[in-house]
Amino acid sequence: PELFLPERANSKGFDLTHRPTLKRIDTARAPFRTHSWQAGPLIAVDAPAGTTAPVPNPADPSDTVGKIAWANADTVRAAGAAARPFDATPSERARILNAAADLFETHFGELFALLHREAGKTLRDAVAELREAVDFLRYYAARGMEPAAPARGVFACISPWNFPLAIFTGQVTAALATGNAVLAKPAEQTSLIAHRAVQLLHQAGVPRTALQLLPGAEDVGAALTSDSHVAGVAFTGSTDTARIIHRAIAKHLAPGTPLIAETGGLNAMIVDSTALPEQAVRAVVESAFQSAGQRCSALRCLYVQEDIAPHLINMLAGAMDALVPGQPWNLATDVGPVIDAEAFDGIKTHVDAARARGDLMHEIPVPGTGHFIAPAMIRVSGIGALDREIFGPVLHVATFRADELDKVIDAINATGYGLTFGLQTRIDDRVQHVTERVAAGNLYVNRNQIGAIVGSQPFGGEGLSGTGPKAGGPLYCDRFRMHAAPRLRG
Ligand code: NAD
Ligand code: ALA
Repeated sequence: PELFLPERANSKGFDLTHRPTLKRIDTARAPFRTHSWQAGPLIAVDAPAGTTAPVPNPADPSDTVGKIAWANADTVRAAGAAARPFDATPSERARILNAAADLFETHFGELFALLHREAGKTLRDAVAELREAVDFLRYYAARGMEPAAPARGVFACISPWNFPLAIFTGQVTAALATGNAVLAKPAEQTSLIAHRAVQLLHQAGVPRTALQLLPGAEDVGAALTSDSHVAGVAFTGSTDTARIIHRAIAKHLAPGTPLIAETGGLNAMIVDSTALPEQAVRAVVESAFQSAGQRCSALRCLYVQEDIAPHLINMLAGAMDALVPGQPWNLATDVGPVIDAEAFDGIKTHVDAARARGDLMHEIPVPGTGHFIAPAMIRVSGIGALDREIFGPVLHVATFRADELDKVIDAINATGYGLTFGLQTRIDDRVQHVTERVAAGNLYVNRNQIGAIVGSQPFGGEGLSGTGPKAGGPLYCDRFRMHAAPRLRG
């Protein structure tokens, strides 16, 4: 087939080194500093409302961000019956999705405020998140115009809280761009952001029967993945939840119902003795602590070659000391809170166990209220010592001898995950040797290992980390269509 190269451009985002830009951002988000959002299911027919709950700010227990009314099994059933494919020409669908991208950009002040207050995102993270959401809208809008097979019908889109705007929007847009109807269930922690995104998509012209929002927790997810109207599921979240959804589809839905699952990772970086120390330290700190470590792509286990380890670890501790944990709204903040009390308790237990063993190498102070985990560096024997993804600002460090490189690669592959991997070296042969052997969806050499760019760095994992196709890449939209070509990766 002819190569399809859609015309589009990624969002320019915001230059946070430019003072007038910072002023513009501050002015735009100011009205939402104390605003209270009210949200609930957005469905195309009348259905009884479920229970409502206050929405907390993870960084500040005194701040209530708004109120959310949950969907329930009845709402899901009503929405499934009311769902209708996005019945418009591909170019009309693209026009509407591009209009939504423009609206997202116009409403940046409100979206940043929601990302700070509901999701605990720093300004740097909020800017990156809005850019990614807008890029998904424009990229999939363009991809949707590729001459291709028809839509499948109704897609259930189930998303996580850690990219509450970008991943939510990405899944929904790919399904809509290809002509499907969407039943979207955001993570329960970040329903207000999703609600605002759906309002903007409706305002841009997406019909209410083509896009419905079902806020709720796992009960709503379970109702969705067993609803007979559903012809495909796009899921991003933990590997354990993907397994549950896989079983639900097999039990309740038609044979062959596709599941696109983008899941967790146990991501490693290898730094050898030829690496540029300053470059390596910067890459490690960004990869492990940006977004408070709450990225699926984040660095969890750093392998440093023994001969440079004392020096590099010293530099890392110094760089950690320069991080500024604090309120996400503050311009100076580098590290915000973790999402909720459950996440806080799980990570704290892990760090406390390391402290008790004498393996806590370094940590820095954080505010005493709110769900702030102190960014920490922990000694481990290797990645095999991590029995789960620690989803927070915790860097694990192991050392290796020059003759142990292949053993390290084997240990990384033995986890079964395969999301991101980083390598810092100045030996060209080694780049080839290591990257050919490590099983990971996204490989990064001599840079950080987070922040894939839509359209130029498709993102997705292997093994326990996901099914493919990669998000933000040329093959993703195919999976939302009938008779998708047997090209699952790219
Ligand atoms: P999660 O698995 O707990 O929840 C994800 C979504 O699934 C939520 O909307 C949740 O309500 C829903 N859910 C939970 N149980 C369900 C069930 N039984 N049936 C249907 N839906 C159900 O994950 P999370 O804590 O929200 O997100 C963090 C995880 O997501 C981490 O493991 C992270 O690595 C992963 N993640 C992966 C990627 C990627 O691209 N690979 C991106 C972001 C996050
Ligand atoms: N796409 C996100 C990243 O690359 C998860 O960090």
